Order: sequence, then structure tokens, then C-alpha cells
Amino acid sequence: MSDLALRAVDLRKTYVSKGAPPVEALAGVSLSVARGDRVALLGRNGAGKTTFLRIASTLLRPSSGTIEVFDTDVGRQPAKVRPYIAIVPQEGKPFFHLTPREQVYTYLRARGLGRETAKARTEASLERMGLTEFADRLSITLSGGQRQRTMVATVIATEAPLLFLDEPTIGMDPFARRAVWASLRELTRRGSTIVLTTHYLDEADALSQRLHIIEHGRLLVSGTAEDLKRSVGGTLKVHLPEGAYAVDRFRGLGACVIDGAALTVIVGPERLGQVTETAVAAGLTATVGPVTLEEAFLRAVGRSIDED
Ligand SMILES: Nc1ncnc2c1ncn2[C@@H]1O[C@H](COP(=O)(O)OP(=O)(O)OP(=O)(O)O)[C@@H](O)[C@H]1O
Ligand SMILES: [Mg+2]
Repeated sequence: MSDLALRAVDLRKTYVSKGAPPVEALAGVSLSVARGDRVALLGRNGAGKTTFLRIASTLLRPSSGTIEVFDTDVGRQPAKVRPYIAIVPQEGKPFFHLTPREQVYTYLRARGLGRETAKARTEASLERMGLTEFADRLSITLSGGQRQRTMVATVIATEAPLLFLDEPTIGMDPFARRAVWASLRELTRRGSTIVLTTHYLDEADALSQRLHIIEHGRLLVSGTAEDLKRSVGGTLKVHLPEGAYAVDRFRGLGACVIDGAALTVIVGPERLGQVTETAVAAGLTATVGPVTLEEAFLRAVGRSIDED
């Protein structure tokens, strides 16, 4: 098998629906994912992340370009690709009339696993996702977070060589999120490859070895979390919630990012004193913290990930 789990070349997708203008969801994305990597796709709502995952997982055909999974062309040989992949779709739900135990087990059996393996993997996966207590209740009676955990448990249990997870931890409490992170790390230790999307930048930072920021269907930036943070141009941020109007006073001191009424100034430690003095002189309140992926994202995309 090749060293690449996935390779997309100039992938494009335009959605065409009757009576509506066409939507260019992917405008030429090329990216590769090495075997055994954990990779996150980041981007604002509508950036094209789900479209990319749907194409990669054989659910949707691209308008042009190619995508290969373990050297097999996804568009030409989808049936050959499917045994190698598993996906947690965005807003997917477990079958309401199945219990989590039935759902995971049935899915594994449908993928061709033997009874004993399927049973053992089902139990391990339910346990890992903290679902043992709810394992025999119909999914329709479960809470939103419990349903999402069932979806993740189902896909984790496959131990497929390539896993796609579209916002896997949405709606999960902090304990469940950490259980997902631990499971995904364990899977890559054992040779699987993970491609996920998330809007939680702390999750992307904690979990992924490589990040790709997508905006308007184009790849903007790729690199490690450290690469992205370094690109911000300083290690500290001074956040001034009401500072945007006074941006001119700060321009010479560091990189300035305006977000509504707020201003964030990115500096190295040597300029910190000057920036806080300037803030005090202007009567502005300020908080100081380390640069995070949030600033890297703001800088790359030009706006905050939460902002519409
Ligand atoms: N079936 C469809 N028909 C028409 N347009 C679509 C369809 N699916 C998605 N789009 C459009 O394609 C673009 C990309 O959507 P996509 O779902 O890939 O974004 P995303 O990055 O996953 O966003 P989010 O973070 O909100 O999940 C959006 O403008 C969206 O409105
Ligand atoms: Mg999406």
C-alpha cells in the first residue's frame, strides 16, 4: 500500500439545482494525507469541508479533478474504496429503532466482520464512548450527545484504515470529547488515518498533526498547529474588546486584527509593555494571553470562525 492514504488533485464541485444559481463549493482543492496521520479540515460555515468529505467517501461525485484513497480512484472504483473507509457524517443520527449495541454490532456485521470480532469490538467501542449504561435503550430515547457518541462509537469500532469524521464531537460534553480524542489517537497508533472537520480550534490543536484551512472552496493554508501559530507573527495576544476604533495607535506595535468593535494586537514579549501602556493611555481594558489557533485562523481567513 502507498504511503498516502488520500490524494486529491484539483478537486472541484459545483452544485447545480433548478431555479437557483450554481454554487461553487470546491474550487480546485489539492491535498494529500499521509498514512497514519490525523488531519483536520478547518473553515467557516459553507467553506466546502463536508463537500470534500462526501466526495472522498464516495457519497458524491466531483465536477472535476481526482481523488484517490490508498491509490484507488474514488470516482472510478467506489466499491473498491468503501471497505477501506468509514464516515461519521455531519448531523448523522443512529437508527432510532435500534439500540446503540444493535447499531454498532449490525454495522460491523454489514461490513463483513465475523460474529465474535463484531461482538468484542462493539463492547469495547461502547465502553470507550461511555455508552454501556445506555447500550440497550432505543436510540430515539437518547439525548443528543448520547446519539452523537453512538455515531462515533459505530465508526471507531470499524477500525477502518481511513476514517472521516465530520464534526464528530458536536454537542458532546468535555468528557465525551476527550474520550473521542483518546480513541482517535489510539486508532492512529494502530495504523489508521483520520480526517476530521471541527469548529473547535482547541480540538484541532490537541488532536491533529496537520491542519488545512479551507475558505470559499479553496485551500488557504496547510501546516502543523505550530506552523500556523508561528505565521501569526508573535507569541502573545493583547485583546482589547473596545479597541477597534483606536487601531491607529497600535499599528506600529504589532499585528492588528479587527473583529467588530474588538481589536487584537499580536506581539512578542518585548513589545508587550508598550502595548499595555498604550491601552491604558487610551482608557481601554485589555487582557493578555498566548497566541492560539484562533488567531492563526483569524489571520488566515480574516474573520472569526464563529462569526457569520
Ligand atoms: N446539495 C447542495 N446543493 C446546493 N448547494 C449546496 C449543497 N450542499 C452544500 N451546498 C453549498 O456548498 C457550499 C459548501 O457547503 P459544505 O456543506 O461543503 O460546507 P462546510 O464547510 O461543511 O460548512 P459547515 O461548517 O457549515 O458544515 C455552501 O455554500 C453550501 O450552501
Ligand atoms: Mg459541514
